[in-house]
Amino acid sequence: MSLSLLTIAYLTAGVLFILSLGGLSTQETSRRGNIYGIVGMTIAVVATALHPSVEAYVLMILTLVGGGMIGATLAARVEMTAMPQLVAALHSFVGLAAVLVGISTYLAPGDLTGTSHIVHAIEIYLDVAIGAITFTGSVIAWAKLDGRLSGKPMLLPGRHWLNLLIVLSIIGIGVAFTGSEGTTGLLLLILMVNIASVLGVHMVMAIGGADMPVVVSLLNSYSGWTAAAAGFMLSNDLLIVTGALVGSSGAILSYIMCKAMNRSIWNVVFGGFGTGEGTPAPQIEGSQGEWIPIETDEVAELARDAKEIIIVPGYGMAVAQAQRVVEEFTRMMRKQGKRVRFGIHPVAGRLPGHMNVLLAEAGVPYDIVLEMDELNEDFPTTDLVLIIGANDIVNPGALTDPSSPIYGMPVLEVWKAGTTIVLKRGRGVGYAGIQNPLFFKENTRMYFGDARDSMQDLVAALRTG
Ligand code: TAP
Repeated sequence: MSLSLLTIAYLTAGVLFILSLGGLSTQETSRRGNIYGIVGMTIAVVATALHPSVEAYVLMILTLVGGGMIGATLAARVEMTAMPQLVAALHSFVGLAAVLVGISTYLAPGDLTGTSHIVHAIEIYLDVAIGAITFTGSVIAWAKLDGRLSGKPMLLPGRHWLNLLIVLSIIGIGVAFTGSEGTTGLLLLILMVNIASVLGVHMVMAIGGADMPVVVSLLNSYSGWTAAAAGFMLSNDLLIVTGALVGSSGAILSYIMCKAMNRSIWNVVFGGFGTGEGTPAPQIEGSQGEWIPIETDEVAELARDAKEIIIVPGYGMAVAQAQRVVEEFTRMMRKQGKRVRFGIHPVAGRLPGHMNVLLAEAGVPYDIVLEMDELNEDFPTTDLVLIIGANDIVNPGALTDPSSPIYGMPVLEVWKAGTTIVLKRGRGVGYAGIQNPLFFKENTRMYFGDARDSMQDLVAALRTG
C-alpha cells in the first residue's frame, strides 16, 4: 500500500473513531457508534498490515487470530457486573504492550543524533513510563474489582512523600536516559520500568475498592496517552489520534464521574475513600424515627392504585440481577394504562451507564428511561416511587446536611412523591457508608429482601390479585 493511501486509510479510521465516540454517548445511537468503531478498527488493522515495512505476516496472523479468539470468548462470557474488571484487565495489556514496544524501539538500530536523538529518547521514555504505571495499576484494579485483593485502601504512612520520591526519581533517571546510549540506556530504562511499576501498584492500592470505577476510567485515560506517546515514537499518526481520543475521553469521563459524586479527582486518587460497603449504617445522634416495613400485598395495592410510577434503580438491582423482573413489572403496569418511568442518577451503580445497560439488556424501552435532571421536578406529582437497591443517590442529606460526606451531590428527590418504597435486604449502607434519612420519612416504606425475590413476589401478587 502506498504511503498516501495509508494516510487516507488512517484519516478515515480516525474520523470513524470520532463518530464512534459521538454515537456511544446516547443509548439510541450506541449500536451505530459501535459499528463505526468496528469499521474504523478494521480499516486501521488492514492498513497497518499493508504498510510497506511490515514483513512478519505469519506471526501477525497467528497473534491476530489467537488474540481475537481470546477476546471474543471473554466478551461473550463476561457478566455485565464483571465488566469493570474486564476493562481493567484489558487496560493492563495496553500498558504492557507500550512497555514492550518502547523497549524494542530503543533496541532497534537507529541513526538519530543531537536533538532528534533526545526527542526520540523522551518519546520512548514517556511511552514506557506511562505504560508501566498503567500495567501494574490496572492489574491491581482488576484484582480489587474481582475480589482477589481487599477493597480496603492500603494507606502507608508518608505515602504522598513516597509517591513524590518515586516521581522525582523517574524524572531524574529520565534526564540521565536522554543523554545515554546502548547498554547504559537500556539499564536505565529497565530501572525506571521497575520504579514506575511500583508507583502503579502503590497508587492503586491506596484507593478504596468502591472508587475503582473512577480509577479504571483514569487508567483508561493513561492507556490512551501511552498509545499517543507510542504514536510519536513510531511516527504513526493514527496511534497519536486514537491515543489522544482515548486519553481525553477517559479523562472527561473521570471528571464527569467525580462531578456527579461531588468529589475532586484528587480526593478520589489520594482520599482513601469508599470502604463502607456492606457494613451496617453508623448510628446518627438524635432520633431518626422508625423504619416502617411493608409487605408484598400492601405494595401490590399501592401499585394498583398508582397512576404515575417512577422506578429508581441502584447498585442493589445489579447485585440482585433484578432487571428482568423489573421490566416485567413495568410492562404489566403500562398495560394497565399507568405511566411508568425510570429515574437514572449519573453515578447509580458502580460504572458509567450501569443502570442503562442493565435496563436495555432487559428490554425496557429507552424513551421511559430518563436522567435525573429530566425528572426531578415530577416527583411531587408522582403517586409511587420504587427504589430498587439504591441508597446514596436518593439520600436527602446530600442536599440538607453540610456534615454529610456526600453533601452537594445532586440526588433524585424521591421523598417528594406520594409514597416511596425502598427495596433492600436489610440495614446495609451504600457506597458512601452513611445513614440515609429517607428511610425514616413518614411516607417511606421499607420492602425488605433481595430485590429480585421481592419483585418476583410483587409481580406474582399483582397477577393473582
Ligand atoms: P449504593 O448507595 O451503593 O446502595 C446500594 C444499596 O443496595 C445498599 O444500600 C444495599 O443495601 C442495597 N442492596 C445490595 N444488594 C442488594 C440486593 N441483592 N437486593 C436489594 N438491595 C440490595 O448504590 P447507589 O444508590 O446506586 O449509589 C451508587 C454509589 O456508588 C454512589 O455513592 C456513587 O457515588 C458511587 N459510585 C458510583 C460510580 C458510578 S460510575 N456509577 C463510580 C464510583 C462510585 P442492603 O445491603 O441493606 O441490601
